[in-house]
Order: sequence, then C-alpha cells, then structure tokens
Amino acid sequence: MPSFEQLPRASDPAVLGRAPQAPPCSFVVFGAGGDLTRRLLMPALYNLQLAGLLDDDFRIVGVDAREMDDAAFRTHLTEAMAHFVAERQGGTPVALDQAAWAWMGERTAYLHGDFADPASFERLKTALPQGNVIFYCATAARFFETIAQQLLAAGMTEEAGGFRRIVVEKPFGHDLTSAKALNAALLACFDETQIYRIDHYLGKETVQNIMALRFSNGIFEPIWKRDNIDHVQITAAETVGVEQRGNFYEGTGAMRDMVPNHMFQLLAMVAMEAPTSFDADAVRTEKAKVIQAIHPLSGRQAVRDVVRGQYRAGAYGGRAVPAYRSEPDVKPNSSTETFIAMKLGIDNWRWAGVPFYIRTGKRLSHRQTGISIHFKQAPFALFRDTPVEKLTPNIMFLHIQPTEGVTLQFSAKVPGPRVKLGGVNMNFNYADYFHEGPSTGYETLLYDCLTGDATLFQRADNVEAGWSAVQPVLDAWDDGHIHVNPYAAGSEGPDEALALLQQDGRSWEPIER
Ligand code: BG6
Repeated sequence: MPSFEQLPRASDPAVLGRAPQAPPCSFVVFGAGGDLTRRLLMPALYNLQLAGLLDDDFRIVGVDAREMDDAAFRTHLTEAMAHFVAERQGGTPVALDQAAWAWMGERTAYLHGDFADPASFERLKTALPQGNVIFYCATAARFFETIAQQLLAAGMTEEAGGFRRIVVEKPFGHDLTSAKALNAALLACFDETQIYRIDHYLGKETVQNIMALRFSNGIFEPIWKRDNIDHVQITAAETVGVEQRGNFYEGTGAMRDMVPNHMFQLLAMVAMEAPTSFDADAVRTEKAKVIQAIHPLSGRQAVRDVVRGQYRAGAYGGRAVPAYRSEPDVKPNSSTETFIAMKLGIDNWRWAGVPFYIRTGKRLSHRQTGISIHFKQAPFALFRDTPVEKLTPNIMFLHIQPTEGVTLQFSAKVPGPRVKLGGVNMNFNYADYFHEGPSTGYETLLYDCLTGDATLFQRADNVEAGWSAVQPVLDAWDDGHIHVNPYAAGSEGPDEALALLQQDGRSWEPIER
C-alpha cells in the first residue's frame, strides 16, 4: 500500500507527472453538452494529459440529447478550453498546448442519444472498445437512476474484461429517504466498489491537507481534543448569488446544497479519528463514524441552534446587487434559505462538549472558506497584577480558499518595560512553498477514479450519515418552525447568526481574514 507521501495529490502538472500513468480507459460523459463537462471535466482531463498521465488508449465519448457530430463537439470543447486557460492564470492568458489538445481531440467522439432510450445504450455499447470504462453522469440528478438502469439493461455494468465505474455528482438525494432510495437504485445496478460519488470539496488540496497536517505532525494530534479545544468554527462564505441557478436553488437552499455534503466533509476531516491506513475504506469508515456521531438535534434544538437567512438587496464591491427574491426563476415570496448557521455537537470521547459552529451563505461580504480551531484559554491568574486585560486565545486557522494555508494565533510580549501582550500570527502560505499550476480541483478526483482509489469519494454510508444529521432540521422546517431571517447582500449574514454564538459567550471570526 502506498504511504500518504507517495499518493499523487497535487494538481500541478509537474507534481502530477510524478504519479504513474493511469490505465487505458474509455471515459463516457453523459451530459456532454453541459456546463460541468465544459468548465471542469475537459480542462481537468487536459491537465492530466499535459502531465502525461493518460494512456495512449484513453478515449472520451460524449453522450447528450443535442444533435451534434464529432467535429461540432470538438469545436464546442475547444472554445471552452480557450476560456479555461485564460481564466485560470488570473486573467493572464496562457496558450493552449496545441499538441496536448490535438491528442485529446483525436480521442474524442460524440454520440447523440436519449438517456431513457435503450437504443442509445446499444449504440454506445457498439461504439466502445473492449476494456475499462468510466461512466460519468454530468447530468441533472434525476437522470442518475435511469442511466444506471440503462447501463445494467444493456449489459454494460459487468466487469468482465475491464473495470466499469460510474461517477455521480451531488445532489445525492434531497433528504434522507431520497438519498437512501438513490443509493439503493445505484446499488441495484453497480457494486459499491464501482460507484464514485464526487464531492468536489475533497478535490481541494487544502482540504486534503487537513489529514496531512493532523496525522503527519506529532505536535497537533495530542492536543486535538476536548481537553484543549474550546470550539470549532467552519465557514464557507460566498460572494456570488444564485446566478442562473434559481430553478435548482429554490427547491434546494443552502442547507441541502452545502451542509450534508461539503460542510460535513470539512467537519469530518477536522474531527475524524486517525484511520488505521490511508486505504479508501479505512478513511471512509472513520469519516462515516464521526458524522454518525453528530448529536441528533431534537425539534427544540433544531429551532434554537439553527439559523436560516435569505439575502435582501445590498451591495458588493461597490455594485448594487438584487435581493434573492428578485433573482431569475425565484418566487417573489420565496422562503428558501441562502444562508445557514448551526451549532452541532459530536457525541464521542474526543469531542463531547465541544461545539462545532458551521455557517455558509451566498452574497456574503467576502469569499472565504476555512476552519478555525479555538483552543482553551491559558489561566489568567499569572497576569492578574499586570496591565494585561485578557489573553489572546490560541486559534489555528485552516484557510481553504481563496488563500490556502495555515495560521496559528498566539500571544507575545510587546517590547517595553511593562508586561503587555499582543496577538501575533505564525503563517504558512501554500503559495510560498508549492507552485500550483492552473487546475480545476477535479484532476486528482478523475485520476483517482481512473486508478481505482476511492479514498476521496463518498461511500453510501457517508452520504446517508450526512442526511441523517440534518433530517431533524428539515423536519422542523416542514412543520413550519424555522423563520428565515433577512440579511443585506454584502454583509456577514443575519444578526441571529451572531446571536447563536453570543448566547454561548463566543463570537464568529470575521469572514474576511
Ligand atoms: C456547489 C454548490 O456544490 O458548491 C454551489 O451547488 C456552491 O451552490 C459551490 O456555490 C461552492 O463551491 P466552491 O468550490 O466555489 O466553494
């Protein structure tokens, strides 16, 4: 088994290039004409090719309902790639590597087909060479089950003569019942080992780094527990609104969109026990255990410890922005939340009594995703007779995006004859140490899927544990219990979210850091 250091995890082609080449594979993309294919999948595959990680017998077969031939599909992708290379270098265009892109083009084909039509799958079967196949569902979630069933009916899920893997993206269901139904439907067609459920947060280098930070450094793990930690804050703040996704978002909201998946992945990384190895199942078992240990909220707690918010009109970056209710495809009296803050407890020996506060929202003041670990205060007694009024708490910040790194905040003596303390920071910035190439965050995930490493993908029990933890809140909402509090676009969220911590004598870290 490879050690953690040997696992290829960075998206920089130079770093990826040190990994072994992936096996030959036909990569079938359902929903090939869609946004995900254009913005993320093709650029990620291109980066893998640039790093020399794709086998000469790699093939891409795009499947979609739109009438197009191979040439038109390639042109459509080429245009999208031009945007990708330009955007990803902070606006400074870099040229598309023509040789690498031509290599991809020669291996790209298109099949016009309907996901519900068995004849399309028969044609796909004929078009595919012998060997390994990945079926990537870059479609709306309502097609996942149909595609899996059609693949089964066409005899394409059997692993004779090569692997067969299916990749699905969130949303994995809408609540616990539908998540279980989706898992059951997929498991009726594929074995769990063939199913790769993507949570793109796990493609982020700094999220993966949490495991490295905790488990490859002797100094942190001994203090990583209730004896030393007062509380943990997890924030995923966005400045964007719902953009053109009103239709989807209206029936989803911030809780379903972000909490049982992305936010709980962050929580699991920070709170899980050390796995016995970096084997996929060992890691996923520990993650499932900690999510299952989230204290089930009673109806009363679901009202007291959860704050919903919705953005009203406001300003961001000096520009007026509309209210959520004025966004396209949003009901003028919508009660969908665009912000959520929650206080959670974890019922195990390591974390009993340590609150985990999580918050996520759209149209907040800054884009910032990160985790702060707040350590318990040192005893003040020693400073009672000095001008020091209070001690700066030790906080470890794990910055996930847009800046990537780790900061440790502690107290130091201010120079001078009298005892005065000042808060100072010890900073590690990823960018200072590691060069990052243009990447989508999907490179690692696609490479892992090609090579059969499921560590960064969600297992059925992980998904269901996430939904179980939020289900009492969803139920309370169904009973009409939780009010949706307004907040101005460009602010830090509703006042009620501040009160959630204030009632515990704590406060949120500012969103901008
Ligand atoms: C997606 C959500 O899964 O994650 C979006 O559907 C959200 O609503 C996005 O904006 C956030 O991802 P990131 O990588 O920008 O933090």
